[in-house]
Amino acid sequence: MSLSTSLLYIIKLLLYVFRHGDRTPVENFPTGLHKESEWPQGFGQLTKIGMQQQYELGQYTRKRYSNFLNATYNRHEIFIQSTDYDRTIMSTQVYLAGLFPPVGNQIWNPQILWQPIPVHTVPVSEDHMLHFPSPNCPRFDELQNETQASWQFQNKLQPYMVKQKGKNINLRDSWNTYDTLLCESIHNYTLPEWASRDVMKKMKELAALSLQSIFGIYKTKDKARLQGGVLVNAILKSIKKATQPSNKRKIQIFSAHDTTIGALQMALNIFNGKLPPYSACQFFELYQENSGHYSIEMSYRNDSLTDPYPLRLPGCTSPCPLEKFAKLVSSVIVEDWSKECGKCQVRDSLGFDFAVGLLFIFDALLLYLLYEYGSCRRKNTYQNF
Ligand SMILES: *[C@@H]1O[C@H](CO)[C@@H](O)[C@H](O)[C@H]1NC(C)=O
Ligand SMILES: *[C@@H]1O[C@H](CO)[C@@H](O)[C@H](O)[C@H]1NC(C)=O
Ligand SMILES: *[C@@H]1O[C@H](CO)[C@@H](O)[C@H](O)[C@H]1NC(C)=O
Ligand SMILES: *[C@@H]1O[C@H](CO)[C@@H](O)[C@H](O)[C@H]1NC(C)=O
Repeated sequence: MSLSTSLLYIIKLLLYVFRHGDRTPVENFPTGLHKESEWPQGFGQLTKIGMQQQYELGQYTRKRYSNFLNATYNRHEIFIQSTDYDRTIMSTQVYLAGLFPPVGNQIWNPQILWQPIPVHTVPVSEDHMLHFPSPNCPRFDELQNETQASWQFQNKLQPYMVKQKGKNINLRDSWNTYDTLLCESIHNYTLPEWASRDVMKKMKELAALSLQSIFGIYKTKDKARLQGGVLVNAILKSIKKATQPSNKRKIQIFSAHDTTIGALQMALNIFNGKLPPYSACQFFELYQENSGHYSIEMSYRNDSLTDPYPLRLPGCTSPCPLEKFAKLVSSVIVEDWSKECGKCQVRDSLGFDFAVGLLFIFDALLLYLLYEYGSCRRKNTYQNF
């Protein structure tokens, strides 16, 4: 039973981070069958299915917290920040249509049961809070290198290696390719013949491993301090603010990517090892007990057909007392991010490309089918999913 129904607690703040809904592929792979022009609006865009998923998430939130959230939109009670991408911004817009359809005298046009609600963003190049992995962090690039070379990572990769002399396949490219194929299959586009169910299953596991290797597997805490910990810090700050008597905010929403959820969950050590699906949502609920003490309950909604999965912060109970929560996560929070990144000056975009290129340097020999179909290439940009 959720605490929201318990009389001993009152909910004070709802905070969550979701991934955007279903989208078109972010890019093609060299032997891909479908060009960007075959997708309405091109690559990386929210689809109608994605809109439905986000609308459903909004309606779900409205229903689940109907006793807490006023049916009437009130600007003091809500704050929304999205990464600066079309698909994440659009995801919040359609989500908000489900959460706050205008009622009563907020209806401004009876034909359109929708009302404008502001969504905030910062430019991608300055977004260290929601957009991961954050560029311009040399220490993190080093950690990426070390991870690829670590036995912990190599052990996990081993089962997928296929001996193909001298032919390397890149893990990150493999994720991109899997992602594109997944989009094509969801939208009933023909897949290449080699993309059998079995190959897709393997590629999905590899994609999850790729995500894990960015933020986890090796020196996870050190990496978290430079990535997901920044978001943990922002979340904790909002939660602490909500314990102040002057607080009016009831709900705070972050709209982002699978990498954001992965970075956050790995920083909190609650990641389930799977790729966050579309519209996956990480909930934080702040409660106040009768005694006046505050506690945090977490859950993860990764499937619209079942209730969110309750999550427990390792080392704590669920719900976790706020002070204990703060203490447990303090090890992934840094005071001076730039300094900890070992950064003396802001790098130019070349530096960024170079740093990101490092992610691709250590290649695995795997899925030779993929290679046969020519997906071996170098790419110097980092794609956010
Ligand atoms: C909901 O908002 C309306 C309008 O701002 C206000 O009159 C009402 O008291 C609020 N209800 C609750 C339960 O907060
Ligand atoms: C990462 O590894 C590559 C290849 O060994 C090396 O050239 C590069 O300098 C390393 N980068 C960092 C930041 O350690
Ligand atoms: C794909 O085909 C299935 C089976 O015909 C259908 O149920 C589904 O709606 C189609 N998906 C899209 C996105 O058109
Ligand atoms: C959702 O998360 C739960 C708990 O970690 C996991 O057991 C389940 O397989 C996940 N489902 C999907 C669709 O990722």
